[in-house]
Amino acid sequence: MAEVQTVLILDFGSQYTQLIARRIRELGVHSEIHPYSIGIEGVKKLAPKAVVLSGGPASCYDEDAPSIEESIYQLGLPILGICYGAQLTDKLLGGTVEPADHHEYGHAKIKHVNNSALTSSLPKSDLNVWMSHGDKVSALPQGFETIYSSANCQQAAFANPEKQIYCLQFHPEVVHTEQGIEYIKGFVFDVAKVEASWTMSSFAEKTIATIQKQIGPNERVICGLSGGVDSSVVAALLHKAIGSRLTCIFVDNGLLRAGERDHVANVFREHFKVDLRVVDAEERFLNALDKEQDPEKKRKIIGREFIRVFEKEASSVKDAKFLAQGTLYPDVIESVSFKGGPSQVIKSHHNVGGLPEDMTFELVEPLRELFKDEVRALGLELGLPRHMVNRQPFPGPGLAVRCLGELKKSRLDTLRSADTIIEQEIIKAGLYESIWQSFGVLLPVRSVGVMGDKRTYAETIALRAVHSNDGMTAEWCKLPYELLGTISSRIINEVRGVNRVVYDITTKPPGTIEWE
Ligand code: XMP
Repeated sequence: MAEVQTVLILDFGSQYTQLIARRIRELGVHSEIHPYSIGIEGVKKLAPKAVVLSGGPASCYDEDAPSIEESIYQLGLPILGICYGAQLTDKLLGGTVEPADHHEYGHAKIKHVNNSALTSSLPKSDLNVWMSHGDKVSALPQGFETIYSSANCQQAAFANPEKQIYCLQFHPEVVHTEQGIEYIKGFVFDVAKVEASWTMSSFAEKTIATIQKQIGPNERVICGLSGGVDSSVVAALLHKAIGSRLTCIFVDNGLLRAGERDHVANVFREHFKVDLRVVDAEERFLNALDKEQDPEKKRKIIGREFIRVFEKEASSVKDAKFLAQGTLYPDVIESVSFKGGPSQVIKSHHNVGGLPEDMTFELVEPLRELFKDEVRALGLELGLPRHMVNRQPFPGPGLAVRCLGELKKSRLDTLRSADTIIEQEIIKAGLYESIWQSFGVLLPVRSVGVMGDKRTYAETIALRAVHSNDGMTAEWCKLPYELLGTISSRIINEVRGVNRVVYDITTKPPGTIEWE
């Protein structure tokens, strides 16, 4: 197997650090984020082909400003400094950085000054970029020249081509920078000459070999399936690696979407021939949740019951030594990001999948290196159905956070029917994959209506559809009126117990995506 070449990103705490890694990986090049504090020894150990220094919130004149050894620049590695990384490079190599007269946040126009290997594919005309800085570079170190200037920032881009050190004051990784990917391509391919060898098939091959080494011939792995993409991909990968030594456990807690249990069973039992144990725990969960209305208490009950059910089932699996989990790269980066840095952006929900610390399994986390979009690509590579791989996120506590008030089977069935109609219509309109989440919420609010000649007094479905990149912020979708109309009339005509449909037009913040 060919060695995968890596671009190392040293993180100075920018909110965009993960984006840099994603952009590089989109080019088919492996990239890893580590805190700037790993120092030169850490860099040498990782043996990257090139280094990117990220932006960050500090000023390089702050007393405890994050910094790196100057000797990193003598390793002969191509280096790209972005924003703070550019200023730090300038200062460490003998230039001058000072507070800018105007803080520059947002769009700016840059003018071409000199050609460079990094920017050879970009036009010479003015280009729009995204700036976000309070300091500016006022004098360059020896051997450096200006590549681009803007009205507020003479050194918008500068470089020492001989030493392969390139610095951008703006952020090529954000979408607001016109042709931003070209700067990154220029650095990765034209300057650093890195090979594009990062593909999901090479990743799968390498990971399967690692799993095969980790798991002994008589040992079993348990994998909790939720129906979501992460656990499904973990299971498919493990199945490829260790075949029948994998046991999957799927807990039907009665809070799943319509058809979910059958779908999971069909894919894993019929198609992959996995040893799948489906635990029918609907009654147990609904009894435990009986009459509970408080959202936080509902979550706690669901978490507690899940652990009990899962533990019991897992303890019946002979020779089980490992537990597989779908931990993703953003969760891993969080823990290495330096304290106080805002690159930590992903909110961790206490998931239903969270298991007690005293469970005596060793963990297998084969997706630790991947971003969500890569997990989806890997899922397709492993033969999972597109519908499963591209499914919108679904919260761990399931429909419990979408069925406000009492969690009775009849109300959950009503919500499931409405939710199915919403999903069908959104898919039919060709919008499913471009929407972050679209779903129904059953409100314990009754109102009067008329159906035929009869007066009705029934509950309300709130339709929620949002665009989002990571669930942290969200915009409500401007769905076409016709689509809203179809969904509304289908729900009212086809779902018993609902006589009113409303559309939620709240952004996050200040709202949340789920209602609870
Ligand atoms: P909120 O409602 O906080 O949701 O705006 C943000 C994102 O997180 C999902 N969500 C959860 N996911 N367990 C999960 O696995 C949970 O308890 C949970 N609560 C909310 C939600 O669907 C949205 O994508």
